[in-house]
Amino acid sequence: MARLPGLQVIRSPVQGYGVIATRRWKAGSVITNVDGVLWRAGEKRDDRYSLILDEGVFFDMVDQTRWVNHSCEPNVVVEAGVTRQGNGWAQLQALRTIEPGEELFYDYALPEALKERCHCRARTCRGWIVEKGKRGQATFPIRPR
Ligand SMILES: C[S@@+](CC[C@H](N)C(=O)[O-])C[C@H]1O[C@@H](n2cnc3c(N)ncnc32)[C@H](O)[C@@H]1O
Ligand SMILES: [Zn+2]
Repeated sequence: MARLPGLQVIRSPVQGYGVIATRRWKAGSVITNVDGVLWRAGEKRDDRYSLILDEGVFFDMVDQTRWVNHSCEPNVVVEAGVTRQGNGWAQLQALRTIEPGEELFYDYALPEALKERCHCRARTCRGWIVEKGKRGQATFPIRPR
């Protein structure tokens, strides 16, 4: 697997592997497009590394981005959706300036049924990796492009 420029997989102080920046990313910049595979509920897959695009629609991240951890105070946002041709897509964008060496985090906003304990250590940590108040809804809007 080719290494994505500006990113490095490390052992994370939060959990398991994580991803750090090896260069500075400005607020609003596209850090990377995500390589991944679309699949649907009922197909037997490991969903631990998948974005939830919609109810029963998942995007299994198959490059270094699969190891980006969750934080309740994220520095990254994921834009994701399904193209008119039915292909999944996702992109990581910087929410603020990210300096070299900083770990990347986005808010997984998991539905209640999939929630896990959170160890992000943010001041405003919710204690759980879970969506705020929108029980059972999609993590990301389906956006054609
Ligand atoms: C997409 S993987 C992220 C990479 C993961 N750290 C690994 O080494 O495989 C998602 C899993 O990482 C763990 N994880 C990510 N962020 C976490 C956090 N803030 N607190 C606790 N566990 C976390 C959870 O077990 C979650 O199911
Ligand atoms: Zn947290």
